[in-house]
Amino acid sequence: MSQMPDVNMTRMKRQGSEDVVPCSTTQALPKLPVPPLQQTLEGYLKVVRPLVSDDEYEQTKRKVEEFGKSGGDGEMLQEKLLEYAQTKVNWVYDWWMDDMYLTARLPLVINSSPGMVFPKQIFTEPSDQLRFAARLISGIMDYKVILDARALPIDYARGQLAGQPLCMEQYYRLFSSYRVPGLTRDMLVSPDSSVMPEPEHIIVVCKNQFFVLDVIINFKRLSEADLFNQLKRIMQAATAGDRCEPVGLLTAGDRTEWAKARIKLMEDSTNRDSLDMIERCIFVLCMDEGVCCDKTDLTLACQMLHGNGSHSNTPNRWFDKTMQFIVADDGACGLVYEHSPSEGVAVVQLVEHLLNYIRVNPWNDVCQRDSPAIPHACHSSQKYGSKKMLRAQSICELPYPRRLRWKLSPEVFHYLKTSRESVDRSIANMDLHIMRYTRSGKSFPKSQNMSPDGFVQLALQLTYFKLHKRLVSTYESASTRRFQLGRVDNIRAASIEAHNWVQAMCSDTVEDYDRMELFKKALKAQRNFTLQALKGQGMDCHLLGLKEMAAMIDMPMPDIFTDEPFDLTNKFVLSTSQVPTTMDAFMCYGPVVNNGYGACYNPHDDYILFCLSSFKDCGDSDSEMFTIALRQALDDMQHLCLKVNHPPSPVMDLRKVEINGDSKMANGLDGHQLGLPMFPCGMARENNPTRKQNSRDDDDTARGPIADGAMAQT
Ligand code: COA
Repeated sequence: MSQMPDVNMTRMKRQGSEDVVPCSTTQALPKLPVPPLQQTLEGYLKVVRPLVSDDEYEQTKRKVEEFGKSGGDGEMLQEKLLEYAQTKVNWVYDWWMDDMYLTARLPLVINSSPGMVFPKQIFTEPSDQLRFAARLISGIMDYKVILDARALPIDYARGQLAGQPLCMEQYYRLFSSYRVPGLTRDMLVSPDSSVMPEPEHIIVVCKNQFFVLDVIINFKRLSEADLFNQLKRIMQAATAGDRCEPVGLLTAGDRTEWAKARIKLMEDSTNRDSLDMIERCIFVLCMDEGVCCDKTDLTLACQMLHGNGSHSNTPNRWFDKTMQFIVADDGACGLVYEHSPSEGVAVVQLVEHLLNYIRVNPWNDVCQRDSPAIPHACHSSQKYGSKKMLRAQSICELPYPRRLRWKLSPEVFHYLKTSRESVDRSIANMDLHIMRYTRSGKSFPKSQNMSPDGFVQLALQLTYFKLHKRLVSTYESASTRRFQLGRVDNIRAASIEAHNWVQAMCSDTVEDYDRMELFKKALKAQRNFTLQALKGQGMDCHLLGLKEMAAMIDMPMPDIFTDEPFDLTNKFVLSTSQVPTTMDAFMCYGPVVNNGYGACYNPHDDYILFCLSSFKDCGDSDSEMFTIALRQALDDMQHLCLKVNHPPSPVMDLRKVEINGDSKMANGLDGHQLGLPMFPCGMARENNPTRKQNSRDDDDTARGPIADGAMAQT
């Protein structure tokens, strides 16, 4: 079937690298470099080494040498890539977008779109949901004023390579993007402002029904009181409305199936109008029903990530829209976002702005009798002189929000049924665990002169090795925003050095001092991979570029790219990402391969929050076991540091573990005594998940040889 012409698309602009007009601050940044060929090939061999047998490695090495030899395919492709890079703002951007997102056919739910949980809200009466939502919309519109003026303050890198200015382009896509499903490839589009006026409406989904809520009328932003009243009307209409088919579920299925369904939907003018309103809206607000009275980290994360299924809140979504904010009647709040326009870091900045806005302007003021006539903050409109976005005094006669109508043909019903079945299966298959590791946070590795991020990454490697006796291809996002239109490249944590260290950690015969030496080497390797990626010298984007260049010039694909280990290194069994927040909000996502884990972590000074996901139907992964083994790995690493580097700190006596919101004080107890299975190093969980590890608690007071306090790691 060929791609049908799409009437709606005439009003939309494709968002590729060449379709973005970079602003002056972006233009001031350097362009992403093309790394030297030999550096990438050497790096690639190092990545392959711990993942394959000796024989396989030798075969791959020969193919890499053949590719990289003087006058070989590699040199020719490198030359072409360098020429191509000169013609582009960011040479890898479009290839990376296709590879990472747009050509993926798996549903967005769980497989691609992260969920984010906001701090729990206490709603005591039904109207509290509306009050909070009104304030939230107002906060978003306040942020949008800054975006529309392209006036966000420039971010500067923190942590490693701190101080460099970062590309801000992905922020500006948060409210202007929409992902259109395609038969073989999706398209990221934004409304074409030369054809259409800027959107002035949002979509509110309530009881699976879609309503158009104009948030700007007669050039004025609606006040919170008006937003509240309009939301109330929507709630009443949704409750009184006829039974409505859960059309939103169409966006929750396989991308090609949804593309076919959309073509069918578009045959009818009513549907075309409804789709147009959704695709052009500023964002979607999902007014959810509460799921259960027990609001734990886990139940909240599930609601944000997938909505709990077709009989719960999953149909109350439109997954193609970039930003979907969720406000449930029981106080569960958060968002789910379509990942292709932006990384989590930009979303976190937005969320922190919103949560601050709501803190300064408490939501329970909205529409109370004694509420101030003009709420405290209307900062951005005043500061950026946006007349259109000035907040209006109450407009008495607002038109009723319009409910979107659908006409579903039997074929569309068929797609809806398939999508419903598929999303329910994946949700039932999702194994998500949230752990707040409170025995220490990022201040502990810092006190040891170690990078907290490197520390956590190596803990994840040790965890996987404890459970499976091998390392696997690992993805960690490293920002490339130091360059124009930079997104991310990969930090390859499964290094040869990490392999040597995890083996030592799991061997009874290696002394602690030697383990520490290997640990330092592993941290150093991790730091080198990190710096390489941050400096735009990452291996993954470069290999992708060389491969795409080979396809572009239509040459036979070089052996290096058809080799099995190449495939293996690109199947990320561990898909990891640091998404830090300063508030008690956190992000979560699913694994990217069937036998994989998703590991999103949020390091705070005194605790680290981990969201660990896997699929239940895979016999090879188990989030609960991973969570327990990770806690042990972090404990073991701290014990090692305290024994070899520094005397034990009193803070280590406080034993507190929290998994899925279930808090257990464990002063002086190990996981076994808590009734949790233990994983002796090097023992696969299938073999003996409950064998007790040597108790380390006695060691808490043991003083190992005190190494030189100045650690050589970084
Ligand atoms: N000794 C003492 N302190 C150290 C240290 C050492 N050896 N190494 C680092 N630190 C400090 C840093 O200075 C920093 O201090 P701060 O908290 O005061 O800023 C802190 O420890 C954290 O540094 P580190 O843990 O090394 O990581 P980082 O903050 O540099 O982050 C990346 C590393 C790769 C995660 C980050 O650069 C990045 O790219 N983030 C984006 C990831 C992303 O896009 N995620 C979203 C995907 S959807």
